Amino acid sequence: MRNFITIEGCDGVGKTHQTRRLKEYCEQMGYDVVFTREPGGSDIAEQIRRIILDAANCDMDDMCEAFLYAAARIQHLKDIVKPALRQGKTVFCDRFVHSSYVYQGLGRGLGLDKIVQLNRIAVGEYMPEFTVFLDLSPEQAFMRKGGADKSDRMEAVDFSFHQQVYQGYKALIQAEPDKFEVIDASGSAEQTQRLLRQALARRGVIK
Ligand code: TYD
Repeated sequence: MRNFITIEGCDGVGKTHQTRRLKEYCEQMGYDVVFTREPGGSDIAEQIRRIILDAANCDMDDMCEAFLYAAARIQHLKDIVKPALRQGKTVFCDRFVHSSYVYQGLGRGLGLDKIVQLNRIAVGEYMPEFTVFLDLSPEQAFMRKGGADKSDRMEAVDFSFHQQVYQGYKALIQAEPDKFEVIDASGSAEQTQRLLRQALARRGVIK
């Protein structure tokens, strides 16, 4: 879908920081953009987010988790993404279906096909035009960050989970290279931001 761009990467790659800087830049330039995130992004979806990420919910069934992510996504699309796209705005979404593919499908081991199918039901035609992947291995990310945030249920899982997630992203990119802009996120925040903007300019999203 034209003007719908998603941003993905492993935990701790600096995705939130890079997205915030991009938002500031786009606003400065006067672009008609909406920045949003998943899970969450709208009132009801943020309520679902709290249930999913609550460290007290460690007994949550993996399939329940996958459905909650998809459920939050349906609501977020309805409340934020679809109205903005209808108004001709460019929507940047911090995480979307590819997070479910790799975290639930591969990391949790539910199977990629099943999670792709579930999300096809959830999103219908609302797939991103392309996806920015901030490329940093979990080893590098966790070293830079100084460890995981154990109060976050997704970050508290063991390391092999995050390695599977990273390999999963790489496999998705290999399968559909045109659908991704891979950004080397191992340099300074400035360097990464520059590479990100260059990629968006190449795609004609920004000048
Ligand atoms: P968040 O604190 O937003 O992490 P980040 O800043 O790295 O994006 O938490 C989102 C967590 O939810 C993150 O660990 C990835 C996970 N997640 C899934 O497992 N499946 C999904 O479909 C989505 C959207 C996120």
